Amino acid sequence: MRDATRQTVVWEALRAVLARRSAATGRDSLDIVDAGGGTGGFAVPLAKLGHVVTVVDPTPDSLAALERRAAETGVGVKGLQGDVADLGDLLEYGSADLVLCHSVLEYVDDPAKALGAVGGILREGGAVSVLAANSVAAVVHRALAGQFDEARRLLLTEPSGRRFSREALAGLLAAAGFTVTEVHGVRIFAELMPGMTAESDPDGLIALERAAAGHPVLRDIAAQLHVIAHR
Ligand SMILES: C[S@@+](CC[C@H](N)C(=O)[O-])C[C@H]1O[C@@H](n2cnc3c(N)ncnc32)[C@H](O)[C@@H]1O
Repeated sequence: MRDATRQTVVWEALRAVLARRSAATGRDSLDIVDAGGGTGGFAVPLAKLGHVVTVVDPTPDSLAALERRAAETGVGVKGLQGDVADLGDLLEYGSADLVLCHSVLEYVDDPAKALGAVGGILREGGAVSVLAANSVAAVVHRALAGQFDEARRLLLTEPSGRRFSREALAGLLAAAGFTVTEVHGVRIFAELMPGMTAESDPDGLIALERAAAGHPVLRDIAAQLHVIAHR
């Protein structure tokens, strides 16, 4: 259920970004890099849509799984072993239309450096899609679980670098030369309710999450923030 909600909101935004980029460039097949793309959950469906997709990930096992998944789907996806911060050494400057950076900033040593490297490989007018854990949600979830001291501690201390507020993500992206064009909340309600409640009407919950994803207040308490930014 959680993954279905994530997929729905993120894919809807990605499809719109890709359609606009294709219209602007006159190319149906775009060059996409999935930084920290893991086993290809996004990369393989994007290749199936006809795009040229490269996954950069430090984990050999993930790249092997990516290769198997791509082969089973009948598409080609190039896998490169490496760190998002080294994108500039692995790929040509200004060679990508879209870079995905989904659930990766939480793991990197230096998120600012990582986004700087993303900016370097994007073409003018290209976009980055960033998905990251929301530091505000961590406070809400701890409080709802009755962990009040931990919730207060999270509220009163700077986020650890493994979670980001909307302002922090916007600041990191601006420093890397990006303009934020869209912010969506992913899993606003799905994370707050018991699994049984979520399962009682999965389609209704997904429709609600889609409707709320762009809400200027509700998106700020989502489990993850999805940001589209342009160069
Ligand atoms: C939670 S998974 C997300 C996978 C995929 N992006 C997705 O959204 O389904 C995190 C991924 O980041 C990769 N990763 C961790 N540190 C990284 C780094 N410094 N540079 C690039 N990828 C990294 C991991 O190997 C893993 O595949």
